[in-house]
Amino acid sequence: MRGFAKVETHANDLTNDAVADADRFHHWHGFTQMAEYEPLLVERAEGNWLIDSKGRRLLDGVSSLWCNVHGHRHPRIDAAIIDQLSRVAHVTSIGMGCVTTAILAERLAEIAPGDLQHVFFSSDGSSAVEAALKMAMQYWHLQSQSEGCSELANKVRYLSLGAAYHGDTTGAVSLGDIPLFHKLFAPILFQPLRGPLPDTYRLPAGVTAESALEHYAAKMEALICEHADDLAAVVVEPLVQGAAGMVVHPDGFLRRVRQACDAHNVLLVADEVATGFGRTGKMFACEHESVVPDLLCLGKGLTGGYLPMAATIARRHVFDAFLAPRSAGKQFFHGHTFGGNPLAAAAAIASLDIFRDEAVLENASQRAQQIAAGLVEIQKHRHVGDIRQRGTMVGIELVEQRDGCQRFAADQQVGNRVCQAAMERGVWIRPLGDVVVLMPPLSISEDETQLLVDTVCDAISEGLDDRPDAKATRIRLPG
Ligand SMILES: Cc1ncc(COP(=O)(O)O)c(C=O)c1O
Repeated sequence: MRGFAKVETHANDLTNDAVADADRFHHWHGFTQMAEYEPLLVERAEGNWLIDSKGRRLLDGVSSLWCNVHGHRHPRIDAAIIDQLSRVAHVTSIGMGCVTTAILAERLAEIAPGDLQHVFFSSDGSSAVEAALKMAMQYWHLQSQSEGCSELANKVRYLSLGAAYHGDTTGAVSLGDIPLFHKLFAPILFQPLRGPLPDTYRLPAGVTAESALEHYAAKMEALICEHADDLAAVVVEPLVQGAAGMVVHPDGFLRRVRQACDAHNVLLVADEVATGFGRTGKMFACEHESVVPDLLCLGKGLTGGYLPMAATIARRHVFDAFLAPRSAGKQFFHGHTFGGNPLAAAAAIASLDIFRDEAVLENASQRAQQIAAGLVEIQKHRHVGDIRQRGTMVGIELVEQRDGCQRFAADQQVGNRVCQAAMERGVWIRPLGDVVVLMPPLSISEDETQLLVDTVCDAISEGLDDRPDAKATRIRLPG
């Protein structure tokens, strides 16, 4: 580790160590221990490849943190942004709008499930969730007024799942349940009701793969029924809980939650910030179970992963509840400076055009099958506890002992070490603890997929040596 002295920057000299020092000292990176951070500086990208400041090419195995959908520098998205730039770069969405953003809203309404038609724009996934929380609560407040039923104004609580992750702003953190990220902040958080983590790998005692759906769904139904009078909304990541470690829910869980919400007059918020835009094989994960949430949160892949934009899409009944003369003060008192930014909207429209014209989901489906086939052998490795996959969202959980799903000690940093070994072989991936995550761009080719899978398998099997006394520490870290 170098000393933290203030550095002279040489921003245009990419080969100069001073730029790395600037990145280490002046750029405070999220979720990164800066005391040990070794700069990896991307200078440009081509298709599914990142090229760093030393000219090294790295296959982007996690879509630049789950958001790049069609690869980098896609000519249609690049052109759309440049074209928009020649007209206007920013227009506020508060009290007015922009042609490009209005067109995007309509395009999203066309592809969103059911009557999800009313698009509120923000700049990141966390903000999309925050907007959904406030919309849900204000909805019940307005309903209590319009129905003359004061009890409805008591619906001010939320129910979120075990190990939930919905972002890093304070409301989103309140919903969250990952101790390392969330516990410290408890004094400033609201307390949601906590549902189960519908995990199909670590099953509770007495629960089998066959009975898992019934077990988890019954728990949710009981909570929703018991707290219906207080509950504004249930918030879920549908099908796959990404940050929890790519935890895959039992089939049918989402539908059961939707049914329970309907039965007890509770809104359902689907956070598809990670699962949206083709990741699970369909445009939106909710479509797998024919579920229409009351509020749908989108981010990451919305602009093809190019520019910061997120959206909270409301169904007709939610939107309608806010309609009244201005003087009634029923409008949604919430709005972000850059919500609906036209450059981002232009990128998002181009991304939707690519989905429409370029058989993106078909390629993603073939690549998902290729990944599944390519991981069959490594599944037998004694330190591979579980491989879970929905579409191109993949988690490979590394364990000390397969019996009892026994985790490695945290200080062994097994996930990090495997990813480091993959990077030395030219593939960039990032773990979630000891879960090695693959989430390549949907545009990844057959050859690139093979490279990704082979590299990850090599990194696991060579790193986690098969000798009985071997430990994960055999993986060498550079330096
Ligand atoms: C399911 C989910 N919701 C919300 C977020 C937060 O999005 P952002 O980082 O854009 O605020 C994430 C980010 O990973 C996510 O996976």
